[in-house]
Amino acid sequence: MEFRDAILLLHPAIAVLVVFPFIGVVVNRALQTRQRRLEIKMTGKSKIPAVVGQEHVQLGRWLTGAVVGIVLLALANDIFSHILDHQLWMTALFQVIFIALLFAATIASIVLLYKAKERKWRAIFATLTGMGLVLLGCQDGVYRKTDQWYISHYYYGLTAAFLMIFSLAILPEIYKDRSNFWRKIHITLNCIALLIFMGQGITGTRSLLEVPLSWQEHYIQQLYEQKCDTRNCTIQAPSLPQKPL
Ligand code: HEM
Ligand code: HEM
Repeated sequence: MEFRDAILLLHPAIAVLVVFPFIGVVVNRALQTRQRRLEIKMTGKSKIPAVVGQEHVQLGRWLTGAVVGIVLLALANDIFSHILDHQLWMTALFQVIFIALLFAATIASIVLLYKAKERKWRAIFATLTGMGLVLLGCQDGVYRKTDQWYISHYYYGLTAAFLMIFSLAILPEIYKDRSNFWRKIHITLNCIALLIFMGQGITGTRSLLEVPLSWQEHYIQQLYEQKCDTRNCTIQAPSLPQKPL
């Protein structure tokens, strides 16, 4: 296995080893937090310790960082592989610098979102982080599968990242609001996020079968008889000529 293949595997490996176990614990604590709140509302007491809410929030904050982190990692692999393959710094130096600055600005925005207290700043940094991900996702080399957007690992991955960023941005609102409006919004959106995460497990595993290792690219280019971009050059079912009856 070549070095760039090992880099390709970093994203799925971190997703499996870090992000999905985190999701398991965050969801477990979420259910306990809800059960505790409802028991106290109905009977005035609960056997579930009060700490489950704090644990959900602390791990949820980590989860947001981890999801945004693996999305940036996958996008960086796609975009920089494309830049290296086409030696873009020779022909489009400004574009390469712009992309590097975009990565830096997106990371800075999420760091500042973690630190921001005022509602206005949380909204601004959440928007900037989301915009950074969208702009990076639009770059050449990213395997978007737009013609099949409804089963695209890219589109759902970005949506999941937005939902995590939104959860982090509205965090203080959930506590402040007595009418539970933000709490209900949070539950609804994150139930959707949970379904998307399950989908990511499936579409991501499919991506592992479709994105070729370095040594396979040559054969795929021959199969399609065209010069394809490294990452967009994927292993798909070849359309074989119809056999005459
Ligand atoms: C898969 C992801 C997640 C799911 C399914 C989820 C679901 C839930 C549920 C069911 C509750 C309990 C609501 C209730 O009391 O009825 C809750 C509470 C909460 N969640 Fe999440 N959540 C997720 C991720 C996050 C993230 C990423 C954050 C923050 C960055 C977060 C912040 C909070 C906060 C602040 C509360 C209120 C906790 C309390 O009352 O002590 N959640 N969540
Ligand atoms: C939290 C879950 C996940 C999110 C948010 C996520 C998100 C993304 C995004 C946005 C991309 C870039 C677009 C693309 O190249 O398709 C990507 C690429 C990829 N993902 Fe995931 N992913 C997740 C989990 C997984 C899992 C569990 C696997 C496999 C076991 C996986 C395998 C891949 C592969 C092979 C690529 C292509 C990498 C590349 O070209 O650099 N992902 N992912």
